[in-house]
Amino acid sequence: MTARIIDGKAVAASVQESVRADAAMLKSKYGVTPGLATILVGENPASKTYVGMKQRMTQELGMYSVGSHLPADISQDELLKIVRGYAADPKIHGILVQLPLPAHLDQETVLGAIPIEKDVDGFHPINVGRLAMKNREPLFVPCTPAGCIVLIDSVGTKIEGARAVVLGRSNIVGLPAAFLLVHRNATVTICHSKTQNLPDVVRQADIIVAAIGKAQFVKADWIKPGATVIDVGTNAIPDATKKSGYRQVGDVDFENAKEVAGAITPSPGGVGPMTIAMLMRNTCDSAMRTAGLKK
Ligand code: GUN
Repeated sequence: MTARIIDGKAVAASVQESVRADAAMLKSKYGVTPGLATILVGENPASKTYVGMKQRMTQELGMYSVGSHLPADISQDELLKIVRGYAADPKIHGILVQLPLPAHLDQETVLGAIPIEKDVDGFHPINVGRLAMKNREPLFVPCTPAGCIVLIDSVGTKIEGARAVVLGRSNIVGLPAAFLLVHRNATVTICHSKTQNLPDVVRQADIIVAAIGKAQFVKADWIKPGATVIDVGTNAIPDATKKSGYRQVGDVDFENAKEVAGAITPSPGGVGPMTIAMLMRNTCDSAMRTAGLKK
């Protein structure tokens, strides 16, 4: 049986429409326009593309977007000054520092300088710490993993009691995805480069979240028939039929995996659009919190 293809663009569009409506309500009833500040350091082409997309979507949904594009050799002190400026600015409800930062900058210090109330990426140590504990409420959770959960829910896959395997243990995706699944009462295994008998571990999973950055790494015969597969990967592989000479694929061998899985995200067109949609949701939620509309 061919899997249900999870349409990330459609799910993201519905999240975005709800943000557009909430932003309009905040403006008309409370005079508040949700504001997102993006900070980009250096010229990493992928980061420039992502930040541009985030800024455009912020504006498209009727919110306020401001950005700082800083030189790659900016000092830590200068960068912290800019973060603190946005922290003190009442027009700004969310601050996003695009990662990765150049190696001379201390990521933990920079992310720690964002007030937790404006930490719409969910990367502040306090928000991360709360996510990693029972019965604690982070003010925000990271956007990509939050989007993965929305996609799993969108096809009605039951998370409670399910066996979930997360491939990858990054701070941005793998680890927070695992915590979100634990909070939803899944039994979670986190796999990484030292995991033994990886295909056998993955075969146990009712839910697979693949976030390792290796093109088409997860094979169809690793997938339990009927499993829900969320592919976070975006990898370029050579393709002579394309003008650019390459095409984007995920971490899962999609063409074969879709014949085994119950539901699967394509890549591109699956998780990618959700990251931005959840960032928009978090930014709007932050503004709703300042208006007293959210805990
Ligand atoms: N780099 C890759 N993904 C992300 C993300 O979700 N947020 C930020 N700030 N940087 C990233």
